[in-house]
Amino acid sequence: MQESRKIGIVGAGWVGLVTGGCFAELGHNVIVRDIVEERIESLRAGRMPFHEPNLPEMLEKNRERLRYTTAAEELGEADVLFICVQTPPTYSGDADLSYVWNALDDLPRSERRQILVMKSTVPVGTGDKVRAALEARNLSNVGYASNPEFLAEGNAVRDFLNPDRIVIGAFHEEDAVSVEALYSGIEAPIVRTDVQSAEMIKLAANAFLMTRISFINEIANVCEAVGADVVEVARGVGLDHRLGPHFLRAGIGYGGSCFPKDSLALKQLASNSGYHFQLLSAVIEVNELQKRRVIAKLQKHLGKLRGKKVALLGLAFKPGTDDMREAPSLVLASRLLAEGVEVRAWDPVARPTELLKGAQICDSVLEAVTGADAAVIVTEWDDLRTLASDAVRDAMARPLIVDGRNLLDPDETRAAGFAYEGIGRPTSPFEALAQTAEPPPRVQR
Ligand code: UDX
Repeated sequence: MQESRKIGIVGAGWVGLVTGGCFAELGHNVIVRDIVEERIESLRAGRMPFHEPNLPEMLEKNRERLRYTTAAEELGEADVLFICVQTPPTYSGDADLSYVWNALDDLPRSERRQILVMKSTVPVGTGDKVRAALEARNLSNVGYASNPEFLAEGNAVRDFLNPDRIVIGAFHEEDAVSVEALYSGIEAPIVRTDVQSAEMIKLAANAFLMTRISFINEIANVCEAVGADVVEVARGVGLDHRLGPHFLRAGIGYGGSCFPKDSLALKQLASNSGYHFQLLSAVIEVNELQKRRVIAKLQKHLGKLRGKKVALLGLAFKPGTDDMREAPSLVLASRLLAEGVEVRAWDPVARPTELLKGAQICDSVLEAVTGADAAVIVTEWDDLRTLASDAVRDAMARPLIVDGRNLLDPDETRAAGFAYEGIGRPTSPFEALAQTAEPPPRVQR
């Protein structure tokens, strides 16, 4: 049995709660501190501030070892303090570290040697700045380590407890040893390195995942032009052991709280250091264009979009979460509204009424598609696997499905009486037109 330590978590957001809950599961005593009173009260009452599978159960199961507080002094009891605050982009695209500096300002003085561990994603060089800030605050007995998280939303608890690797960058060997010990019980390769390299590993890993997505999306776009099927192509490419199958799902682009923000931060970090990161700039641009390609697909079938009704199915940036941050649905909805489309929107979990102003939020898929000229699969929720049903076809004004995530089988969908457009999959050019009384629309690509 490993030694149980006292862990402080700064920030009761998504990363903070997953980290706190999982360390409690590993047997440590955890104090979670946040400045937002209501959030702490909700957590004490057992209410979750967001949707993350398995997390509520984990927090409940380890209740005895978890304490929630707004009082910074309580963090003075902790051996190790994990900084889990947001680092949103500033106007310049750099990461805003003000929450990190606030956390340092609030740090209680402790007689013991505490270790501050950065979980938040930060620019390379942050560790040096924090070290200097600690010295300036007469906190030179506080250690520092970078221990980035690689958690994917919807899978975060599993990712934490079964990681591909644990990265620890520290200025002092003894601090790295103490941080590593907290993870005992978890089987994973440990990457012990310097602070800067640990910070860079996180940014580079995310950038590479995004590069794969934008790469396969461009291959998908070429597939459309030459009549190949990107799903088959990705399967064939991914079986090469040097490449692997992951992050090769073509679609309408990535979103979320990490990728868009972290790619900008890395791009800025490079340019602030005098380097133009061309490949990353292209990855970002491809992703922006990818979200908008749905509009051309709709125009191909419907002609002018003004006055048409379109159902957006799935709104969260990916399934398994209610997170709407940088969700492709937001860009899509506002592009459609700008074209004069009546937008209906449905999601099994996310309720983004404020964010989707002008769109009608529906309670069921059937409600969203009733009278619609097209249904667009924006997020690949399991509930949408059965979209190509008689009930949906009969409810729609035109049975057209634009499958932004290649969720459905094209042949089965067409056999069920729908016109079907995937991403990077062959289509018969104007198959939906036979069902409309309108003159052939102009193709806008
Ligand atoms: C990601 C990283 O996976 C995680 O390691 C990091 O810590 C935070 O960012 P997350 O944003 O939760 O996690 O989601 P992820 O599952 O990686 O998906 C990100 C986006 O990429 C989603 O919008 C998803 O739809 C899209 N995606 C993913 C694709 O379009 N194609 C793929 O093949 C994979």
